[in-house]
Amino acid sequence: MKYKRLLVTGGAGFIGSSFIRYGLQQRLAEKIVNLDALTYAADLRNLSSVEMDPRYVFCKGDIRDEVLVDKLCLEYKIDAIVHFAAESHVDRSISSPRAFYDTNVGGTLSLLEVVRKNLHIHFHHISTDEVYGSLAQEGAFTENSPYLPNSPYAASKAASDHFVRAYAHTYGISATISHCTNNYGPCQNIEKFIPRMIYGCYNKQPLPVYGRGENIRDWIYVDDHSEAVWSILTHGKKGQVYGIGGKCERKNIDLLHGIIHEFARLKQEDPQDLASLIAFVDDRPGHDLRYAIDFSKAQKELGWAPRNDISSGIRKTIAWYLDNPERLVI
Ligand SMILES: NC(=O)c1ccc[n+]([C@@H]2O[C@H](COP(=O)([O-])OP(=O)(O)OC[C@H]3O[C@@H](n4cnc5c(N)ncnc54)[C@H](O)[C@@H]3O)[C@@H](O)[C@H]2O)c1
Repeated sequence: MKYKRLLVTGGAGFIGSSFIRYGLQQRLAEKIVNLDALTYAADLRNLSSVEMDPRYVFCKGDIRDEVLVDKLCLEYKIDAIVHFAAESHVDRSISSPRAFYDTNVGGTLSLLEVVRKNLHIHFHHISTDEVYGSLAQEGAFTENSPYLPNSPYAASKAASDHFVRAYAHTYGISATISHCTNNYGPCQNIEKFIPRMIYGCYNKQPLPVYGRGENIRDWIYVDDHSEAVWSILTHGKKGQVYGIGGKCERKNIDLLHGIIHEFARLKQEDPQDLASLIAFVDDRPGHDLRYAIDFSKAQKELGWAPRNDISSGIRKTIAWYLDNPERLVI
């Protein structure tokens, strides 16, 4: 590993916690400091398996607190910041966009200011394919696709990407950016599509699907995303952007039928009964039709590719929630 002492932001969230668990299990770092404000999206139970690890430090704090970030970097001799912290729930960005601007744009800017004063620190920025807008039925986004963000969430992530690029160009900071598709897996917040559907199946509650469920997403198992980020830290080149995808495109309604099928199999229930819980609801305003990403650059330059297909990933995910029913609470 090029970088041994990491400051991970948002590590108590869904993807950041997978990244930390993965890195410690694989012995990829000598110190990981997790800075997280513990918003509604965080859950420290995601990190119970590593909390006693002497290589791991948790700090409750806000990424916008530059003095704190600077102090942590100095105290722990940080050589890379891996920036996951964000307001990440698209529906919340539609009802309350300002928080997205404050955290995703302002928070990223604060971290970049610290890096500007500590030019030995590498900055890896976790972005999303949603900054590219919506695709028609064919084709996939690449690292060169134009930015066309449609939701306040996507706009805030796009703005933060531009700041990262500008800081690299203007101040010469060492930075990389990755754009990933939809993640799923253990420890995801119950507001997100897949856990919400598992919750409905488990509690025999309605399974709300936007529109007619025709929207298409590419799904990646969260540990595959984590592995991709570790690969970027190891093999990525300064200034580069990498698309990360799961090669698992599904219409939401087809994905839901897959979840129902697997849930019914695991619990020995009737899939027809579960399917009767499907409730089509008014579509999300400005809902993007399709996302997909061409990850051939990551494959070629990093030697990375997703390991999990959607069937095995969904099976593992449902099994995890059934083993952890206390997480199936709204
Ligand atoms: N979930 C996905 O499918 C997906 C896909 C592509 C990219 N991303 C990006 O990956 C990153 C992580 O996503 P996630 O799904 O794990 O998000 P999440 O919402 O589960 O976790 C975000 C974490 O950031 C923390 N946080 C929020 N504001 C903070 C602040 N001001 N200071 C410190 N910590 C703060 C929260 O407490 C939480 O623990 C985000 O940047 C997101 O945009 C997510």
